Amino acid sequence: MTGEAAGEAAGAREAAGEVAVRVENLRKSFGAAEVLGGIDLEVREGEFVALLGPSGTGKTTLLRVLAGLERPDGGTVLTAPRRTTVYQEPRLAVARRVLANVVLGLPRSARAAGRRALAEVGLAGYERAWPATLSGGEAQRVALARALVRDPQVLLLDEPFAALDALTRLQAQDLVAELCARHRPAVVLVTHDVDEAVRLADRVLVLRDGTFATDLAVGLPRPRDRDDPVAVEHRRFLLSRLGVAPVSAAPAT
Ligand SMILES: Nc1ncnc2c1ncn2[C@@H]1O[C@H](COP(=O)(O)OP(=O)(O)O)[C@@H](O)[C@H]1O
Ligand SMILES: [Mg+2]
Repeated sequence: MTGEAAGEAAGAREAAGEVAVRVENLRKSFGAAEVLGGIDLEVREGEFVALLGPSGTGKTTLLRVLAGLERPDGGTVLTAPRRTTVYQEPRLAVARRVLANVVLGLPRSARAAGRRALAEVGLAGYERAWPATLSGGEAQRVALARALVRDPQVLLLDEPFAALDALTRLQAQDLVAELCARHRPAVVLVTHDVDEAVRLADRVLVLRDGTFATDLAVGLPRPRDRDDPVAVEHRRFLLSRLGVAPVSAAPAT
């Protein structure tokens, strides 16, 4: 690592121009275990990248580096300055009402934008509700509004739908697709759900053994048809790259 990069707060410097995220040869170990072994990643403004990989492969570590929460051991990390993360859990402050959660840490003047963000995620009228009264899907939409109101150039999503039931998950995916199409942040979505990656992303990367084993351009129009033969083929390909054997058709008799 260069001394210059090491001197930056948590190693992240500002990316310029149309590239919102640029990572070169990123290395990160915990003790003797190398988690990221020379990652290269470029995400352009408005691009939606999904990051697949089995549990423990370093997906969260990579997001934390991009968020500036974790310092890399080596390599270059450049990101646009306005970054925000949505996690698997909504992480709401239970002693604050919904609107106060959305604008937490922002000046009072942000409350109008906070109300607009709540309306955008379908929660107009919930401003004064307490987090404990929300369903899991609603709480996660509050977390999305909290991200939205910060107008992120880089939106980092760490398995944001993983704790939701199947139907709520599909609705939340549609909402995120719509919000991203409208606001055009650069998105890095971590997921272990191949369907979700093919449904949402422009590009799907598979993280294996510390590097990207696959970089697949999805290239399907939106809204996406789950049964499009290309989508089916993408899912099959990604599952094979994840080391999951394809389910065979009815056995020959
Ligand atoms: N702060 C830490 N200290 C030690 N080991 C860690 C730390 N954070 C993550 N790890 C380890 O790094 C590996 C990758 O973790 P993580 O990035 O959370 O994986 P993923 O999100 O893909 O499941 C795991 O083996 C995990 O135990
Ligand atoms: Mg993780």
